[in-house]
Order: sequence, then C-alpha cells, then structure tokens
Amino acid sequence: MTHYRLDIAKLGDLDALASVALESGEASWHADTFYPSCRGDSNEIAFVQREQDHIVGYAVMAKEYDVGALYSLAVLPAHRGHGLARSLLGEGLNWLKSRGLTRCLLEVRVTNVPAIALYESIGFARDGIRKNYYPTPGAPRADALLMSLEMNKL
Ligand SMILES: CC(C)(COP(=O)(O)OP(=O)(O)OC[C@H]1O[C@@H](n2cnc3c(N)ncnc32)[C@H](O)[C@@H]1OP(=O)(O)O)[C@@H](O)C(=O)NCCC(=O)NCCS
Repeated sequence: MTHYRLDIAKLGDLDALASVALESGEASWHADTFYPSCRGDSNEIAFVQREQDHIVGYAVMAKEYDVGALYSLAVLPAHRGHGLARSLLGEGLNWLKSRGLTRCLLEVRVTNVPAIALYESIGFARDGIRKNYYPTPGAPRADALLMSLEMNKL
C-alpha cells in the first residue's frame, strides 16, 4: 500500500517541484517560480505530498493582501485519483483561514474538467471567463475560468 505524507516544501525541493509541474502540464512553473513559496518567510507556501522522499504533488497558495489564491496545483499522473489534490487544497485553504482570510480565488483552463470538478466539489463558484489567458504552444491562447470560494459560507 502506498503511504503519502503531507508536508511543507523547502528550498531543497525546488527542482523536484519543477519536475512535477513539467510532468503535469503546469508549463509556466519552474524552479524560480516556486522559490517564493519555499523560502519560508513570505506570503506564499507550497504544500506537498511525499511518497517516501519523492514529491508526487503540490499546491501553491498565496496571501494577496486581504484575499487568498491558489497559484498552482498538480499531482503526478501515476498518483492521481487517490484524493491527494483534495487534501493539498484542503490544507492550503486551512492555511489561508489561519491567516484570517475568508476568500480564495483561482483560475483554471475552461477545458480542465478534473480540476473544475474538484473545485466545484469543494464549493468554488464560477465567476466568469478571462478570454485568451493561457498561452498554448502551436494553438490559439486558451480561455480561463475564474472561480472563487467564500470560506465563511462552508
Ligand atoms: C487536477 C488534479 C490536480 C487532480 O489531482 P488528483 O489527486 O487526481 O485529485 P483527487 O484524487 O484529489 O480528486 C479530487 C476530486 O477531483 C475531481 N476529479 C479528479 N480527477 C477527475 C477526473 N479525471 N475526472 C473528473 N473529476 C475528477 C473529482 O471531483 C474528485 O473527487 P472524487 O474522487 O470524490 O470524485 C490532477 O488531475 C492534475 O495534476 N492535473 C494536471 C494539472 C492541473 O490541471 N492542475 C490544476 C490547474 S488549475
């Protein structure tokens, strides 16, 4: 049986995080993009799922003044469907609540059915579409769905 451990990412995890992002299609996330969430002294944090010593999923959360945000979420394909993303996001939302925030925002490709299903199952609402938001190599830019969660209504 596989045992996963939820943890907080450190600077030594930057390359492992970048490789999970690359394998998961989170194309704009590189080691330097993860840096603010791993240095431990900012308004950003990365929660990770580890299987033994290997990172198999992450959620990057941020406090932007009075509102929270999910910046990036990914689980390696071989480890999907085990509730890892749900627990990463749950931990991230608790982190925002512990900082006094009651609202969390995110954007997601309109075609990303699994992620949208996860967000709606938690209670995120659809707020609107941002046209041509995501650069898509060799294809037209993709639209983003904007979503928000009012945590005090949960
Ligand atoms: C989206 C993603 C993070 C989900 O990770 P996961 O660990 O497999 O998700 P979980 O097992 O925690 O599933 C949680 C919920 O998500 C939804 N979900 C997950 N996979 C799904 C799928 N293939 N089809 C439909 N819904 C799905 C379901 O609502 C599920 O709840 P349930 O198991 O009670 O039905 C993962 O597919 C991924 O990394 N995708 C690529 C990167 C990405 O799209 N990130 C989000 C960018 S905004």
